Amino acid sequence: MPRKILVTAALPYANGHIHIGHLVEYVQTDIWVRFQKLRGHQCIFVCADDTHGTAIMIRARREGRSEEAVIADMREAHVRDFGGFQIEFDNYGSTNSPENRELCDTIWASIRSAGLVKEKDVEQLYDPVAGTFLADRFVRGTCPKCGAEDQPGDNCSACGAAYTPADLKNPKSTLSGAVPEVRSAEHLFIELEKLHGFLNEWTQDGTHLQSEVANYLKGHFLGEPLRDWDVSRPAPYFGFEIPDKKGHYWYVWFDAPIGYMASTLEWCKRNGQDLNDWWAAASSAEIHHFIGKDITYFHTLFWPGMLKTAGCNLPRKVHIHGFLTVGGEKMSKSKGTFIMGSTYLKHLPPGALRYYYASKLGSGLDDLDLSLEEFVARFNSDLVGKVVNLASRSAGFLAGKTLSDVYPDDGGLFAAAAERGEAIATFYEDCNYGAATREIMALADKANKFVDERQPWVIRKDPTREAELQDVCTITLNLFRQIVIYLAPVLPELAKQTEELLNRPIVSWADAQIPLAGTPVSPFTHLMKRIETKQVDAMVEESKEVTAAEQSVASGAPEVPAVAFHPADTWQDAGAALAGEPLAAECTIDDFVKIDLRVARVIEAKHVESANKLLQLTLSLGGGETRNVFAGIKAAYKPEDLVGRLVICVANLKPRQMKFGLSQGMVCASGSGGSEVFLLTPDQGSVPGQRVH
Ligand code: 2FM
Ligand code: ZN
Repeated sequence: MPRKILVTAALPYANGHIHIGHLVEYVQTDIWVRFQKLRGHQCIFVCADDTHGTAIMIRARREGRSEEAVIADMREAHVRDFGGFQIEFDNYGSTNSPENRELCDTIWASIRSAGLVKEKDVEQLYDPVAGTFLADRFVRGTCPKCGAEDQPGDNCSACGAAYTPADLKNPKSTLSGAVPEVRSAEHLFIELEKLHGFLNEWTQDGTHLQSEVANYLKGHFLGEPLRDWDVSRPAPYFGFEIPDKKGHYWYVWFDAPIGYMASTLEWCKRNGQDLNDWWAAASSAEIHHFIGKDITYFHTLFWPGMLKTAGCNLPRKVHIHGFLTVGGEKMSKSKGTFIMGSTYLKHLPPGALRYYYASKLGSGLDDLDLSLEEFVARFNSDLVGKVVNLASRSAGFLAGKTLSDVYPDDGGLFAAAAERGEAIATFYEDCNYGAATREIMALADKANKFVDERQPWVIRKDPTREAELQDVCTITLNLFRQIVIYLAPVLPELAKQTEELLNRPIVSWADAQIPLAGTPVSPFTHLMKRIETKQVDAMVEESKEVTAAEQSVASGAPEVPAVAFHPADTWQDAGAALAGEPLAAECTIDDFVKIDLRVARVIEAKHVESANKLLQLTLSLGGGETRNVFAGIKAAYKPEDLVGRLVICVANLKPRQMKFGLSQGMVCASGSGGSEVFLLTPDQGSVPGQRVH
C-alpha cells in the first residue's frame, strides 16, 4: 500500500553559504526521499530559505541593500549548490513568502484563542547608536566570573560561566561599539507549560523520536515546568509584523518551521493539491523532519506544541543526526577543512561525498567524521574498484550487441542478491545507510569474484566461445545493475548512466528482482574516474582562502553578526585626515542646493579595458532612470562586491566625454585615493532616487 510521505530538511539560514557540514543533512534526507520514491510511495521533499531575524537585517544594513536583495542572492546560491549535489527538492520556498505570512496568521490566531499567549516586560540591552535591541550574541564584554575579556553575552568561553548580557562588565555592542543601555520592552510569550501533558506523551511514546532524544528531553526539560517561550521581538526586526501587536515581530523561530507548511502550500498550488491532505490533523500523510541535534528543542517541543494547538498533523518522526567533524576536529578555516559546497564541487564529484556520507551514517546521533584519506580510498576502492569495475570489465564486450535472450545460470548469484533487497530496504528506511552500503559492497565482492573466475577478457580471444562470452557478460551486467539499483538513492547519476548503458529505465526497487535479458547494450563510456589526492589537496588549499565573514555566517551559529567589534579607542579619532585636507572656503546653502545628491543603486559594475584606476558603474535612480559613471575606485573595490549596494551620486553633474565613454555623474567617497577610497552608503531605509539634503 503506497504511503503518503512529506519530508523536510532544516531550512538553511539565508545569511550564509552551504558548506559540507550542512550537506550531511541534505544528503541524508535526499537519500531517504529517493529511496521512498523508488519504493513506489508518494513522497514530496520540501525546503526553503530561513530568511528572517537580526542577522539578515544587520547584513543588509552593512551592505547598503534591502533585506529582500540579500535573501534573493542567497537563495540563488543555495539552489545552485543543492543542485550541484543532486539534492532534489519538490519545492524550495522562502519563509518571507505570502504563503508563510498567511499560515503564520492562522496558526497564531489558534494559539491566541487557545489562551496560550501572555505579555511580559523584558529587560534587554539596547544599542542607542544602531537603534536596535541586542540579542545576547551581539554583546561582548568582560566575564563577570573570571574576568576574561571579549566574551559573548550568554556564556564565557574561558570558564564556561552562564550569565545574561546585563551581567557582563564593560559591555559593548558588536554592531556599533556603543555601550548598551538596559531598556524594557513588551514581549509575547507562549505558555508551553499548558501543553506539558501532551508533549510528555508525544515525545515519550516511543514512535516519534530516537530513544536517546526522548530520554534527553525527559531528563532536561520535561521533569520540571516548561518555561514560557518568547516569540516576539520589538522593531526594528526583519520578519513578519504580528497582526494584533503592531510594532512587534514574530521571532524567527516562530515562523521558520511554519515555512515547512508554506513550502508545501506552494507545491500544492503548483500541483492542484490541497494543503489539508498533508497538514490537517485528519490527514493520512506521514510528516518526517530531518534536523541536526542543535535544533532538537525547537522541533520536538515548540513545533509539535504549535501544531497540536492549531489542529494540524503532527510529525510522524523527527530524525536527528550528529555534527560533522573533519579529521576528528571541528571544521577549521586555517586548516582548510571549512569547505564550502561550491568549493568542493570545483574539485570533486558530488557522488563521492554522497557515497562517503552514506557509508558513515547510522540511525543514531553520533557525529560523523570525515577523514579525507578515507574519503579518497573509499570512493576509489568501493565505487571505482568494485561497482563500476563490473561494467568496465564486461560492457565493452557486448557494446552494440544484446544481452543473452534468456538469463543464464549464474549459480544463484542474482537470486541471492535479490533476496537481500528487503534487508537493504530496511536499512534505508531506518536511516542506517552505513549498514546498507556494507551489505551492497558485500554483493559487489561476490560479483567481482564471479568475473575473476570466468575471465571474459580471456574468453573473447576464442571466437568459438562467443555465446559463453555473451552469457558471462549478461550475468555480470545484471549483477552490476542490481547493485546500482540498490545504490540509486545514494548515486542517482550512476543510476542514470546505467539506464543508458543497458537501455532500460530504473523505476522501482523491485527492478532489482528481475534480471534483464535480450536488451541492447550501448557503447561503454567511463562511468566514474578515480579521485586523485591532489584534487583533495587543491580543495583544501582553496578553502583556506574562504573569508572570515563567510566562515562566521557559515558556521551554522544562528544570527552571528557580520560586523566587527570596535574597541573603544577607535572612537578617539586622530586629526590627520582633517589636517591633510583643510576645509574648503565657506559656501552658502544656495551653493549647496545646486548639487543634486541622490541615493542610487549600483546595478552593474565592470572593469574598463586599459584603464588602471576606473570601474564603469551603471547607477539606478529608480523608475528606469540610470547614470553611466566612471569612478576611480578600482584599487579599492571589486565590481562583484558593488552590484546591488546603495551609494550617493552627484546626479546633476554636467556629463563629461571621456576616452572610454560618457560619464554622467560621480559617486561620493572619502579617502586619499588608490586603495584608500571609501564609498558613502546611506542608512537603512533609504531608496534609490531620494535626494540627500
Ligand atoms: O538552524 C538553522 O539553520 C535554522 N535555520 C533551521 C530552521 S529549521 C525550521 F524550523 F525552519
Ligand atoms: Zn569566565
